Amino acid sequence: MSDPTIISADFLVIGSGIAGLTAARKLSQHGKTILISKSHLRESATQYAQGGIAAALQKDDAPKHHFDDTINAGDGLCNEEAVKILVEEGPERVRELIELGAKFDTKDGELDFTKEAAHGKRRILHAGDATGREIEKALGSAILNEGLVSLIPNTMITQLIIQNGQCIGCHAIQNQMPVTYIAKATILATGGCGQLYSHNTNPPIATGDGITLAYQAGATVQDMEFTQFHPTTLYLGDKKPISIFLISEAVRGEGALLRNIHGERFMPTYHPDAELAPRDIVARAIFSEMQKTNAQHVYLDLSQLKLDIQTRFPTIYKRCLEAKIDITRDFIPVAPAAHYFMGGIQTDLWGQTTIPRLFAGGEVACLGVHGANRLASNSLLDGLVFGHRLAIKASQSTAIKNLNSIIKQQKPNTIDAETHSGILSFKQALRDRMWQYAAIVRDKMGLETLLNFIQKNKDILSVQTLQPEIIEVQNMLIVSELIAKSALERTESRGSHYRLDYPQKNDTTRQYHHRMTKPK
Ligand code: FAD
Ligand code: SIN
Repeated sequence: MSDPTIISADFLVIGSGIAGLTAARKLSQHGKTILISKSHLRESATQYAQGGIAAALQKDDAPKHHFDDTINAGDGLCNEEAVKILVEEGPERVRELIELGAKFDTKDGELDFTKEAAHGKRRILHAGDATGREIEKALGSAILNEGLVSLIPNTMITQLIIQNGQCIGCHAIQNQMPVTYIAKATILATGGCGQLYSHNTNPPIATGDGITLAYQAGATVQDMEFTQFHPTTLYLGDKKPISIFLISEAVRGEGALLRNIHGERFMPTYHPDAELAPRDIVARAIFSEMQKTNAQHVYLDLSQLKLDIQTRFPTIYKRCLEAKIDITRDFIPVAPAAHYFMGGIQTDLWGQTTIPRLFAGGEVACLGVHGANRLASNSLLDGLVFGHRLAIKASQSTAIKNLNSIIKQQKPNTIDAETHSGILSFKQALRDRMWQYAAIVRDKMGLETLLNFIQKNKDILSVQTLQPEIIEVQNMLIVSELIAKSALERTESRGSHYRLDYPQKNDTTRQYHHRMTKPK
C-alpha cells in the first residue's frame, strides 16, 4: 500500500495494560504485531492495581475453592465455564509471569499470600501495594527485550474498519494526524470506563473507548448494568479530582475495620463476613451508613493490623501522609467510588467478539467471568488468562482476501472554541449525573432522568473532529446510554446493580445477560 497513512501488520493490539501486553507478546511469535496505546505505554489501570493477583497456588488451596468464591461473589451471573478456565489456567499463567521477572512478596523464601474480601483462602499474590506496577514492568520489559512488538504510544483509535462483515483494522489519531492500520486480527484491550462517574478510581484513559468502538462497528455488548463500586477510596472533602486514590481491599484483608463517623463498627450488622463480605455488599453498607449519619464518608481503622504498615502498604502510607493522615495512628476517611466494569464487549471463551477478526480481552471484554460482581484481584488474572487465550485464537487468523479500497477517515470539521468548551462542560455534567443516577443505588425515575439528559445532548455525536478529548466525550455518552438502558431493563437487584424500586433478586433472571447490538 503506497498511502503513507496506511500501515499494515498481522496483528493489531489496542491497549498496553495486562491484557494487551500479554496478547501482543504472544502474538509477536506468529507475525508482525503492533501495539497501540492512547497515552504513554505504562498508563493503564493495570499500572495502578494495588491489592494483587489471585491464584490458587497455596498448599491448602485449589482451583475448586477459587471457583466457588468467584461464583459466590458473582451472584448468579457468572459463566461457569469461563470461571473454570480462569481458576484452572490462572496458576500456570502466574508462574509464567514470575519466570518473566515479576517479583511478588515472599516470606521465609515462599510466596506470601494476602486475603481480600470474599476469598475463603489467602490466595492473593502481591508486590507491596503496587502489584500492577510490578506486572506492567515485567511484561513491558519482556516485550522491550524481545524486540518483536512495534510499540506506538500516544495514538488514539477512533473507529474500527468493517468490510464484508469482518474487522480489517482501525482508524487512529497520531500526532493530530489521521492514520489507518490494517491487520488480519484486531484486539481490543482498552480497559474500563470508570471515568464515566465523577467519583472513580480509574486513570484518565478509562473512558470506555473500546466498548464504543465495538458497539458502533456492530458488535454485541452485554451486562452493561454492572459497574463495580470499590468500598474504600480516600475521601478528601468535596473536591472532585479526575480519579480518587484507592485504599486497597488488602488493608481490610489484613484486619482493618470500618467505622461510621461516630466511631462505631457497623459491618457485622450488614453481613456475617463483616468487612470481608463481597465488595458490592460492603459498598452498599458504607453508602447506607453515610446516609444514616448524614456524612460524606466513613472511616477505616488500621489499629488492629499485626504487620508493619509502612512496609506492607508503602504507597497508601505515603499518599495518605501527603494528605496529613498518618495511617499508623489515624483513621482514614473513606467513601465508595466507581472502580471496575463487569459489562463490556461480548466474547466467547477465546476472546472472539461477534465480529469476525475482532477480539477483546481484559476489562473491556465481557464473557461473564465476573458475573454481577467481580471477586477482588480476579481482574488482573482475567487479563492474563484470557489475553493468552485470545492470542492463541487470533494467531490462527487467515490472510484477508479481496481487500476493498480502504475507506479514508472523514475530514474533520474544525470545531469552534464555544462548541469545544460546551462539550467539555457536558462531560462533567454527564459524570455528575452518572454518579447521581446510575451508581450504587438506582431507580426508574433517576435512570429515566439520566437517559433523557443523554438523549437531549446526542447532537454532540455529529461533531466531526480529530481532537481526542472530544472523541472521548462522544464515547462516554454512548457507553453511558448503554448503561442507563441496561440498568432500566434489569428490574431486580443483583450483585453491583441495586434497584431501590426492585430491591429483591428475581430467580427467573439468574443467568440472564442483557445484550445489545446497534440497530443497522
Ligand atoms: P488497562 O490496564 O486499563 O489498559 C487499557 C489500555 O488501553 C491503556 O493502555 C490505554 O491507554 C489503552 N486505550 C484505551 N482506549 C484507547 C484508545 N481509544 N486507543 C488506544 N488505546 C486505548 N484488579 C486486580 O485484579 N487486582 C488489583 O489489585 C486491582 N487494583 C486496582 C486498583 C486500581 C486503582 C484500579 C483502577 C483498578 C484495579 N484493579 C485491580 C482492576 C485492574 O487493574 C483492571 O481491571 C485491569 O488492570 C485492566 O487491564 P486491561 O489490560 O484490561 O486494561
Ligand atoms: C484493591 O486493591 O482493593 C483492588 C483489588 C481489585 O480491584 O481487585
